[in-house]
Amino acid sequence: MSAATGAAGGPRVLVTGASGFVGRHVVRELRAAGAVVSAVDRTEHPDVPTTLGDLRDAGVRERSVVPGLDAVVHLAAITSVLGSVEQPAETTDLNVVATAGLLELCRERGVGAFVLASTNAVVGDVGAGADGRGTITEALPLRPLTPYGATKAAGEMLLSGYAGAFGLRAPVVRLTNVYGPGMRAKDSFVPRLMRAAAEGRGVVVYGDGEQRRDLVHVHDAARALAQAALGWPSGPVIVGGARSYTVNEMVAAAREATGAPIPVDHQPARPGEMPAVVVDVSRARSLGYAPSTALAEGMATVWPDFRPAGLDGGDGSRVDGGAAAGAGGGARGDVA
Ligand SMILES: NC(=O)c1ccc[n+]([C@@H]2O[C@H](COP(=O)([O-])OP(=O)(O)OC[C@H]3O[C@@H](n4cnc5c(N)ncnc54)[C@H](O)[C@@H]3O)[C@@H](O)[C@H]2O)c1
Repeated sequence: MSAATGAAGGPRVLVTGASGFVGRHVVRELRAAGAVVSAVDRTEHPDVPTTLGDLRDAGVRERSVVPGLDAVVHLAAITSVLGSVEQPAETTDLNVVATAGLLELCRERGVGAFVLASTNAVVGDVGAGADGRGTITEALPLRPLTPYGATKAAGEMLLSGYAGAFGLRAPVVRLTNVYGPGMRAKDSFVPRLMRAAAEGRGVVVYGDGEQRRDLVHVHDAARALAQAALGWPSGPVIVGGARSYTVNEMVAAAREATGAPIPVDHQPARPGEMPAVVVDVSRARSLGYAPSTALAEGMATVWPDFRPAGLDGGDGSRVDGGAAAGAGGGARGDVA
């Protein structure tokens, strides 16, 4: 089906990777804001016209970036750091070459705005950082340490060039760890906690669990991406939950949300793991971003996708008590 079809009226926005975890929420936010949304993905989006195919194929890009679009939200990517280390060339093909192809089509076809979903991995290991606490801001230099971070940084540079030379409005949304409903296919720490709870197992935590991470709820992340598409200016904006939690706090929140004991197997700290990821979201706040989901509340929104049949959900309490038996056996959930 061709893109940019639908009822006339609002701005026309193409979402790449619309059928993925973040994409489904972005489509919902954009439609709620009155946009006419189309999708391009390898799998059909249930609610909006979808160009089906692989974005590394120029023909797929040509069919999806149609004249008349107002904005593109570019989410499709190789999204796993580990995957990028295993497949660096494929990661470049999608995260950089296909991104460049989409930007070029936007220039040729007069699409005014292009949003890239990026990551704080573009700055690499900030250590103690300029403020001595390791706080990540948009002012830090780009020093990625993995193909994933490098390809996102390259994408950011391409957007900057198209903004500078052709007047494209090109906001970059640097997300922290996103969590929320729709994570069944994911393998980051929150879904590992949920799987452990559902299967009556535990998780591995490296070190003492006092390392801090910023988590952003997918509703907040999707709202930011929609706001970016509809009006944010060019340049990077960090979007996080604005509060970093220790791994131990995440485990406690998961126990609270699921009612499961989720025992922790502490293993020696891994060399090179960052002690804290703390982000400054003041630029996002100045653009109207207001993260609204706290961890305990957010964790409860993830559980229904993992909760086995027979456990009630309302307050996360168990009705059969059986699934926790054997807790502590063998789960391997490290920290994303
Ligand atoms: N989830 C996070 O915690 C997080 C954090 C930082 C940045 N991001 C970025 O946000 C974006 C969305 O992440 P997500 O978690 O929703 O990922 P996801 O893997 O759930 O979704 C990606 C979507 O892109 C589609 N896709 C992948 N390769 C494609 C290709 N070659 N052609 C067409 N479609 C393709 C997939 O089918 C999928 O629907 C990514 O760019 C990711 O790098 C995510």
